[in-house]
Amino acid sequence: MPYRNRASPPTKPNTIGTKSIASPQEMIKRKGVKKISQQISHVKAMEKVPLEESIRLIYPRLTVLVTTANPAREVNAAPYSWIAPVSFSPPMLYLGIQRRETLTVKNIRRGKEFVVNVVTRDWAEKAVSCGAKLPDKVERSGLEFEEGKKVSVPCVKGAKIVLECRLKDIIESGQADHFLILGEIVHAEKEPGLEDEDIAMHISGETFVGPGKRFQVEGKK
Ligand SMILES: Cc1cc2nc3c(=O)[nH]c(=O)nc-3n(C[C@H](O)[C@H](O)[C@H](O)COP(=O)(O)O)c2cc1C
Repeated sequence: MPYRNRASPPTKPNTIGTKSIASPQEMIKRKGVKKISQQISHVKAMEKVPLEESIRLIYPRLTVLVTTANPAREVNAAPYSWIAPVSFSPPMLYLGIQRRETLTVKNIRRGKEFVVNVVTRDWAEKAVSCGAKLPDKVERSGLEFEEGKKVSVPCVKGAKIVLECRLKDIIESGQADHFLILGEIVHAEKEPGLEDEDIAMHISGETFVGPGKRFQVEGKK
């Protein structure tokens, strides 16, 4: 329902049992609270988004290439952007991965380790190419790898932020069509001098955006 610019007609005081609750008009009188319609100078019509599209409104998101290894120590790599922090202490993150046995999921289940390599513009194309369903996608990507410091899974050579993780849990939540892969960060590295602008934020499909200029918000008065 759109916001209205006119005040609603006066209402009778509400009651719960014998206790009366102040009407919005009374609250305004008592506390001098401004009506919402007075605070909003111009109300834009909002466009309704179908629920099946609503999750796409959570953007832009960090893009990462997750590296894993199979028991033969062959490396796999796949791009993900459903990633978020979960805990400072211990440091933990989660990945949202389609609820099917992808190579990434298989390797994480078996090896209990993975590496999150944050994707920067300089190798974004190589990272995205690892989203292909080709058995030799990793070789074709042209990416090079180097040993992890605390885990037996390699990381991407040249990645500017690397988070080595140990699996804590794989959560299947009701009908949710993605697994929640919880990992504890056991080693972290960052290239000094990394600029925000270098980081590739994912919008959807093959569309990305840079993070833009930093700004401060005086939220705490
Ligand atoms: C930029 C980008 C972001 C993606 N993000 C996700 C994601 O967050 N979750 C997911 O399940 N799949 C995501 N995908 C799709 C996976 O990368 C794709 O399913 C891949 O084939 C899985 O590879 P694997 O079988 O080697 O694990 C993304 C793909 C791209 C190109």
